[in-house]
Amino acid sequence: MSDKAELHYNGNVYQLPIIEGTQNEKALDISRLRGESGLITLDKGFKNTGSTESAITFLNGEEGILKYRGYSIEELADKSSFVEVSYLLIYGELPTAEQLKSFQAEITNHTLVHEDVKSILDGFPSKSHPMGVLSSLVSSLTAFYPMSLDPNRSASEVNGTIIRLLAKLPTLAAWSYKNRMRQPVVYPKNSLDYCSNFLRMMFALPTEEYQINPVVAKALDKLLILHADHEQNCSASTVRIVGSSHASLYTSVSAGIAALWGPLHGGANQAVIEMLENIRRDGGDVEKYVSRAKDKSDSFRLMGFGHRVYKNFDPRATIIKKAADDVLKELGVDDPVLDIAKTLEEIALNDEYFVARGLYPNVDFYSGIIYRALGIPTDMFTVMFAIGRLPGWIAQWKEMRENNEPIGRPRQVYTGYTSRDYVTIDKR
Ligand code: SDX
Repeated sequence: MSDKAELHYNGNVYQLPIIEGTQNEKALDISRLRGESGLITLDKGFKNTGSTESAITFLNGEEGILKYRGYSIEELADKSSFVEVSYLLIYGELPTAEQLKSFQAEITNHTLVHEDVKSILDGFPSKSHPMGVLSSLVSSLTAFYPMSLDPNRSASEVNGTIIRLLAKLPTLAAWSYKNRMRQPVVYPKNSLDYCSNFLRMMFALPTEEYQINPVVAKALDKLLILHADHEQNCSASTVRIVGSSHASLYTSVSAGIAALWGPLHGGANQAVIEMLENIRRDGGDVEKYVSRAKDKSDSFRLMGFGHRVYKNFDPRATIIKKAADDVLKELGVDDPVLDIAKTLEEIALNDEYFVARGLYPNVDFYSGIIYRALGIPTDMFTVMFAIGRLPGWIAQWKEMRENNEPIGRPRQVYTGYTSRDYVTIDKR
């Protein structure tokens, strides 16, 4: 197999090295292209462009493979926990029992947020979308921890910032929801595990304690594992490029939350439920919506379908679909939109339009059905995605910083006016 490619241009021949990853992925290294040939590449949406080399997560879109640090998502979802997977993604290895205990204790001891966060919360109208509140609150952590503004501090100080963010995000997320409900915030309880603590902060009321259902806590833990990282997706790339300017981890993740919010990315899980509800209200005519999704003159898309990388099934969707059946059965929830989702999947997977384009259900297609069964309100679905994705964002940011990667600054092909003389306003 050749380790270089030749580019013939303007009578010259340029040798471009081919690099190969540990999973036999090959890339044309164009880092010297402009210097040698004057050419740049153009690839809108970076569909064919690698932005970095990474050892964190591996996807094979053709075979529907997803691995975190070499471990399959199927094994981790079945046997691990979200806190353990967070450790694996961030530090690169599964923790020993002692390491996990210490990691969990560090997180538990940092779940409280500064009382002044409540004053910031009070400034948000009750109709504020929790994703906008969460992105702002995460950025506000720089005000409470100004040392975090310098990511070039010692590794132990950077790790302190990492622990604080992992510990406080669920608290900030739950408080964003309480702000929406105009209910008093609930403080974290150190005796509870990560998911149970979050659920209690979401749903406990001054009038009644929240009874933690282990089925709900376990289902949430599995969903967070499934969302924990996904290599160079839109929000992870955002976190990397903001962090590449040596901005703090908090502001890099705040930007990642903003990117995740979009309905083409993490916001799809909310859009899927809204779409399924629309279909239900419209008499359940699934065929009509499948036809609309195929109609180029109609802006309607099947939310939760399609993926930039997976042109076969999304392994996470397969796991979540099964979990949806199990959780709804265990909770005795009968949600009519689950049947609509399954019918939609069945029709689409047998339709040439979707098959030809490799459009399968993605991670967002079934996740909202479980969140709803767990009592999570629809506009908190993407917040749940952010809580799950946080260790992945942190791992990507940490790897980028440790590899001393340069500031991200793409080139462009200019298509505007070449040159014009200024005309005074009286002559325009
Ligand atoms: C996530 O990158 C990640 O890893 C993301 C993620 C993660 O874990 O971080 O996996 C999480 O964001 C999952 C995706 C959630 N988004 C949605 O479910 C929104 C609906 N899906 C699409 O908008 C779309 O499929 C994307 C955005 C997910 C992918 O878009 P691409 O790769 O840019 O593909 P495209 O828009 O160029 O579509 C290719 C073709 C087009 O048709 P043609 O021009 O070839 O005729 O497929 C069609 C599209 O019109 N198409 C769809 C469709 N998705 C693509 N047609 C109908 N319904 C859809 N959902």
